Amino acid sequence: MAAAAELPLDQLELLDPEIFLRSGYPHDAWRRLRHESPIHYFGSHHQPFWAITKHEDITTISKQPELFLNGPRLFLHPRVEEAQTEFDAIGGFERPKTLIEMDNPLHRANRKLISSRFTPAALKKIHSEVDRIARKFVDDMLVEEEGEVDFVEKIAAPLPIAVIGWLLGVPESDWMQLYDWTNRMLGFDDPEFAQGNDNEGAQAIIELFTYFTSLVEARKKDPKDDLITVFAHAEIDGQKLPLIDVLAWCQIIVSAGNETTRNATTGGMLALIEHPAERRKMAQAANLRSGIEEILRWTSPIIHFARTASADTVVGGHAIAEGDVVALFYPSANRDEDVFVDPYRFDVTRKPNRHLAFGVGEHFCAGAHVARLELEMAYKYLLPRLEEVELAGPPDRLRSNLVGGIKRLPIRFKAKRG
Ligand code: HEM
Repeated sequence: MAAAAELPLDQLELLDPEIFLRSGYPHDAWRRLRHESPIHYFGSHHQPFWAITKHEDITTISKQPELFLNGPRLFLHPRVEEAQTEFDAIGGFERPKTLIEMDNPLHRANRKLISSRFTPAALKKIHSEVDRIARKFVDDMLVEEEGEVDFVEKIAAPLPIAVIGWLLGVPESDWMQLYDWTNRMLGFDDPEFAQGNDNEGAQAIIELFTYFTSLVEARKKDPKDDLITVFAHAEIDGQKLPLIDVLAWCQIIVSAGNETTRNATTGGMLALIEHPAERRKMAQAANLRSGIEEILRWTSPIIHFARTASADTVVGGHAIAEGDVVALFYPSANRDEDVFVDPYRFDVTRKPNRHLAFGVGEHFCAGAHVARLELEMAYKYLLPRLEEVELAGPPDRLRSNLVGGIKRLPIRFKAKRG
């Protein structure tokens, strides 16, 4: 296959999940687009779209939620059949839209339901719990002074599952079930998770809805201090949310909260292994927070989200017609030379760091503070205790054009003594 540098722009492949499986992010293609055609129309793609690759343009679009809608199409499917069928009807019923697929006024009314639960002040309450969970996973991994483990299995996957399970109020014995549903909902394009079934993602949603129905009923009768209770008793305009919308809330928290943080944690470890001097710097408490922001910029776990124009408009001198789809490539924005000094350098002391890993504007990630807290706790306990760490095998990547996932990261480590 020709390298990204030689191909005509129209032939650059940005959405084929095979690329992500084989070699990770197509940074060469994104760089060419940023330099040569930052708002580029891929008209012969089976779902024609505008590729938006620069920080400023992604920000401009994301801050106009009435003009650029989330509802009609949140992301671009890699295959024609999926573009036609989507998951819109599952198990004989219409799949309800989750927060991220809503537009105003519905979006703002819904987002208010959780905004107070996810502020840094509100999250102070969960610090000690996340701290306890993170320390336990790190202790478990470092039980031997040296060894080989899959970092995803030991730290990156169980930590967000535990935190999301705990926040929602899911019994600990069922946390692993959340893991399975997330893999199938977001990994529907990876043969390992799709298991040869085109509807595996939809099937996982049905199972998740069935499971949460009984928890929601229980919380209606017996409220607790957890998110299921918040959703079960939530009201919009004086009306209680119908059960199906309560279930959609549980779904978005499970799906948005797990895989993203897992992949930031895993991608962060890979970057720290590849940049040992930065790892040693980040082990110092003073560099922890800036190191987390750099990991978020560097890994940028969401590859793209799409918006649909609600009217004819112009962005960066390009006429975008009503109904046109724009794809926002966050990892490209996070290497934008106009925003970041030396963007291809992994620098845990980078400041400022205005990355777009969590998006921007109306739909800015509702769980950003939770994710930062989890990453902070994981690395705070892990890094100072690692003497050495290296890859024990190649990363096993997820086949997806939506989430930049690493399914397994074999590492060899030596812990510090004492
Ligand atoms: C490193 C981890 C994470 C990353 C990279 C990430 C990334 C994102 C991105 C890019 C968006 C869309 C923003 C936009 O369209 O402008 C988003 C939305 C969202 N995220 Fe996250 N996320 C992470 C963790 C979490 C966690 C832990 C939770 C829940 C506890 C969460 C819940 C949500 C929700 C509910 C939305 C929809 C917000 C809305 O539409 O108003 N995310 N996230």
